[in-house]
Amino acid sequence: MIVTTKLLFEHAYGKYAVGAYNINNAEQAMGLFKGNIDAKSPFIIQISKGARAYTDKRMLEGIIRACDEIFPEAVFAVHLDHGDEQTCYDCIDSGFYSSVMIDASHDPFEENVAITKRVVERAHAKGISVEAELGQLGGVEEDIQVDEKNAHLTDPDEAKIFVEQTGCDSLACAIGTSHGAYKFTGGQGIHFDVVGEIQKQLPGVPLVMHGSSSVPEDEVARINAAGGKLKEGAKGVDIKQYLPAAKLGVCKVNIDTDGRLVWTRVLREFFLAKPEDFDLRSSGKIFIPEYAKFIVSRSEALGSAGQL
Ligand code: G3H
Ligand code: 13P
Ligand code: NA
Ligand code: ZN
Repeated sequence: MIVTTKLLFEHAYGKYAVGAYNINNAEQAMGLFKGNIDAKSPFIIQISKGARAYTDKRMLEGIIRACDEIFPEAVFAVHLDHGDEQTCYDCIDSGFYSSVMIDASHDPFEENVAITKRVVERAHAKGISVEAELGQLGGVEEDIQVDEKNAHLTDPDEAKIFVEQTGCDSLACAIGTSHGAYKFTGGQGIHFDVVGEIQKQLPGVPLVMHGSSSVPEDEVARINAAGGKLKEGAKGVDIKQYLPAAKLGVCKVNIDTDGRLVWTRVLREFFLAKPEDFDLRSSGKIFIPEYAKFIVSRSEALGSAGQL
């Protein structure tokens, strides 16, 4: 059942976080639904601009509608990840999305406010909620690459003004994480002091953590042992930090890279072991339950398991 993102956040706020997982194809969708049903967990499916362009935006819609029928016990929202203004309007007008993210975080503050405000107006008129972003995460997203030195954390005072001026429903904050497989070089992690300050300025406003993949060491090792060449020092967020972040108002935890790693590991190991195989279903049949198992483990770490 597709529900509003607002409903999921109201249920989760201050208690647990909802996992928001990117999908690009039917295999990811199948694993995602199976895993969340096994865990009895609500979830968010998020679709990026790149995912909409990969096959066709209607393909993912069709897959999600089919999954909704195949898995009637699933409770989820559909969200546009990192949208620009035009893509937000396209998703709002389609009537399919529960929420959209307008990401004008790379623009100056005033511009970010103006763009976000326009999107909020159009979205709210249709009962769709809006995630906006303030601050700069490091790493790669879409076609934008932000160097660590240009990344900066969200300013809590600015966050308060931003939410007041834009009327956005949730706020993506830069709190030390970054997109992709290379987040931390040493023992860093989430800046809980900053999250706490933001929550103090914005009590009750759902916060969103991007760049939340954990980049498991054993996953990277298996990929490289099977012929991969992921660089040394791939390091992500400790999943034990999800729940403490949730207690500080983080309601949505975005996970994409970890899913790509499961895919890469399954395919590399499969073709290494079975070089004569050319049936795409053979590896797909391994990926779907492996991805479902991964989703169960994340639901447990997020505290969303058992919430249905
Ligand atoms: O933050 C970006 C997400 O991981 C989506 O990645 O734009 O390559 O689909 P993508
Ligand atoms: P990861 O690269 O850590 O999976 O982050 C995904 C994300 O933030 C999608 O918006
Ligand atoms: Na951003
Ligand atoms: Zn992101």
